[in-house]
Amino acid sequence: MMLTTAPGNPLRGRARLPGDKSISHRAILFSALADGESRITNLLVAGVTRVMLAALRDLGVSWRLEGTDLIVQGGGLGGLQAPDKPVDCGNSATTMRLLVGALAAAGIPAVVDGSPGLRKRPMGRIVSPLQQMGVPIEATEGHSPLILQSASTRPRPLDYAMPVASAQLKTCLLLAALAAEGTTTLREPGPSRDHTERMLRGMGVEVVSERGAVYADQEWYNTVRLVPPESRSLAPLSLEVPGDVSAAAFLIVAALVTPGSKITIPGVGLNPTRTGLLDALRAMGGRIEVQNQTECCGEPVGDLVVRHSHLRGTEIAGPLVVRMIDEFPVFAVAAAFASTPTVVREATELRYKESDRITVLCQELRALGVSVIEHPDGFALPGGSPPLGGEVNPHGDHRLAMSLVVAGLASARTVQVNGAEIIDESFPDFVATLRGLGAEVRRMPPDKTV
Ligand code: S3P
Repeated sequence: MMLTTAPGNPLRGRARLPGDKSISHRAILFSALADGESRITNLLVAGVTRVMLAALRDLGVSWRLEGTDLIVQGGGLGGLQAPDKPVDCGNSATTMRLLVGALAAAGIPAVVDGSPGLRKRPMGRIVSPLQQMGVPIEATEGHSPLILQSASTRPRPLDYAMPVASAQLKTCLLLAALAAEGTTTLREPGPSRDHTERMLRGMGVEVVSERGAVYADQEWYNTVRLVPPESRSLAPLSLEVPGDVSAAAFLIVAALVTPGSKITIPGVGLNPTRTGLLDALRAMGGRIEVQNQTECCGEPVGDLVVRHSHLRGTEIAGPLVVRMIDEFPVFAVAAAFASTPTVVREATELRYKESDRITVLCQELRALGVSVIEHPDGFALPGGSPPLGGEVNPHGDHRLAMSLVVAGLASARTVQVNGAEIIDESFPDFVATLRGLGAEVRRMPPDKTV
């Protein structure tokens, strides 16, 4: 499927967001591990979460989806059943890394695999610490398929300095740690998202986070300690998933760069480990207001009001990189519209996402006429070189596809994004949402008429 933009229309009105992807993944999986029935509303129903749901069905979990409401019958920490075929994680690294933690806790044999794209993503980062916990798991040269054997003992508690600030790694290890004999301690080099800690606390687990500890002569951003529940049981969830700030990111940048725009996005998840893009855009002169701030199921939420703004460049490095790790494709689009230079450093982790989000992003922005320089750990834009227009390829990366569409809403000429069906992985209503705000985005082949 191909999307073509007709630039120029100002964006106006209110946008409805899908449920947060990270919280949805955790809500589905943690409910399956709870004792009893969980109810989740505003779940993200999209390619990546359908993969998690299907994988759990293959592991013997019963659930029922009613629109975006999910009801799960949790069978407890040891309730997953050994699958009779490889568990397919599709394109979803979150599904693979989180599920493996749950399988390690259950101690059951399984083969866990995914698409050719997922097979390229690094899995050594979860396999090596799990092996230190005594989990019988092997990777295939650091990648999937991953093979777990039946475990004869429970995982050993772990004391681990994480080589990368990754919430998927942290969550995988915390899930395995739920079944361990004692307390697990993880040290993180940066502020990775903390939805797991918040949700597990809500399910009755003792999880303590401490900022800024020194260990082995090194300064660590965060220390997380998990004490396995004595009862070996997690309380079921009753949870409303906040709107996905990473989906909002595309609408925010679209409104900032398109003249005459003013939009409202209600119910956005505003967990500080996720709002790095808002800080970066504000530093660039972006007019973004937060209204009606409140808390929903242990997560901060609020409404955003975004107005078209004249942007200047900025510099991004350090903890801010982690707090906006999924937002670099659309951030780069904002930076392309800025009048002065932007530099992104210390962001090598971007090379291990759904695509190599340094090389591929630079390549596709150049195809639109934007000046951009690739660096080993980031990229730089001189500013004053907005997108002209052209034909681009998102390389099977949903976030790159949406970012390129956003570039085409305010470019000099049209932008044609090929392979745009990949957007369904995380934001199936993306085009409808943009159209609802007044954007002109055409689809080929056209939408099915009912
Ligand atoms: C996620 C963590 C991040 C992020 C991904 C979702 C999560 O990955 O990029 O989209 O839900 O834990 P890493 O943990 O690999 O940084």
